[in-house]
Amino acid sequence: MQAPVDHATRLSRRIADHAARISVIGQGYVGLPVAVEFAKVGFPVAGLDTDPDRVAALASGRSHVPDVRSDDLQALLRAGRYQATTGPAILAESDVVLICVPTPLRKSKDPDITYVIAAAKEAAAHFRPGQLIILESTTYPGTTEELLLPLFQASGASIGEDLFLAFSPERIDPGNPTFKVKDIPKIVGGVTPTCRRLAAALYREIVPRVHEVSTPKVAELAKLYENVFRNVNIALANEFSIMCRYLGVDSREVIDAAATKPFGFMPFYPGPGIGGHCIPVDPLYLSWKVRLNGYEARFISLADEINRAMPAHVLGLVTEALNEASRALNGARILVLGVAYKRGIGDTRESPAHEIVGALRRKGAQVSYADPHVPTFHVDGTELKAVEPTEEDLRAADCVLILADHPEFDYGAIARHSALIVDTRHSVPGIKGRRGRLVRL
Ligand SMILES: NC(=O)c1ccc[n+]([C@@H]2O[C@H](COP(=O)([O-])OP(=O)(O)OC[C@H]3O[C@@H](n4cnc5c(N)ncnc54)[C@H](O)[C@@H]3O)[C@@H](O)[C@H]2O)c1
Repeated sequence: MQAPVDHATRLSRRIADHAARISVIGQGYVGLPVAVEFAKVGFPVAGLDTDPDRVAALASGRSHVPDVRSDDLQALLRAGRYQATTGPAILAESDVVLICVPTPLRKSKDPDITYVIAAAKEAAAHFRPGQLIILESTTYPGTTEELLLPLFQASGASIGEDLFLAFSPERIDPGNPTFKVKDIPKIVGGVTPTCRRLAAALYREIVPRVHEVSTPKVAELAKLYENVFRNVNIALANEFSIMCRYLGVDSREVIDAAATKPFGFMPFYPGPGIGGHCIPVDPLYLSWKVRLNGYEARFISLADEINRAMPAHVLGLVTEALNEASRALNGARILVLGVAYKRGIGDTRESPAHEIVGALRRKGAQVSYADPHVPTFHVDGTELKAVEPTEEDLRAADCVLILADHPEFDYGAIARHSALIVDTRHSVPGIKGRRGRLVRL
């Protein structure tokens, strides 16, 4: 008599054949691109989301993220390889479940893990022996084994035998034209070696390189370390730009000069403050967990302090520059260019523009904004509508404040027509043809 095929062997064959049914919980900036990559190579993929509007848009072939083209989505829908749904019943039919839900902070700046718990509980409620569950959301070290594993084991499943669980952080940079899901190596840490092997085999179908690590905790920490590294270096660049101001030197010129060193230096640039769902948030997941273990992460809190002070610094630059032109902030017309947290995308989560525009308005400035990616912007309960920055708008403004250096802006025209520019991104070209004063961060 032939021995029955074990769950791991069966799943590994289904992965190799691209027959494994994959569900991706959360169809946002992370979940949608990864779902589409698996569907593109032939896996049957379901994108599960609790937001009915988002699901309806996806089901009709409309993508809301810059990394997924609507026509690609439509082709996958037509081929029957991708479906979007709000129905969790799909989880019971899946061989693989990826969890890509938000991991924000509470008001107290502690991790808010409620979305991960809700998604994992849903997956555990529909668990079927033989499933591979992978958490991709950025989270504190220990989440996979301390939080997820017991939820699935409660159904009587046996880890490494009929339950496979791993952590694999998503590392995309939405809107980055060079590095997309398929270009970025995947880090994989499984609860057992079989869990790791299966998760690694799955990702090898869509990315050229998978880096396997010994535990989920190592994978969780690797993602946090990457973002702490970025946060700390941005803070250093921000503080360096303030130091250079005291010395009357352009910080960008110094950083660009230092960056000519071909080793041992990586340039980071100052900005009006950090934003988005990752850099301001993820480091605090690590410091929270480490604090519970009796250690205070000093670099993280100092970087956070410096970065969070940048909006007030920018406000000071605007006030000072207006003052030098004998203008008060109260009543000044300020045209803000770019309210997204960074160049080329429409994501305003945690954008420093919220704090800066809010403070300018509270101080009596008349603020308008232009952002080709953000048609409406909510500040202190008021909805602002984006304007097209015409020559008249630029000329009429007492100050043009550049917060996000979108490629769509005409920086030559901005330089030619504006009386005063406060440029937090070093995006306006040099002196030639400039009408007024230029203040750089
Ligand atoms: N955005 C990035 O640049 C980026 C990069 C790498 C990693 N990450 C991490 O990936 C995770 C997801 O981030 P994102 O930017 O994709 O978030 P997002 O807000 O764009 O998308 C999350 C989606 O999950 C859905 N959702 C929430 N709870 C759900 C549930 N219980 N069931 C089904 N759907 C649910 C939401 O409706 C939303 O559509 C976070 O942990 C984030 O830190 C984000």
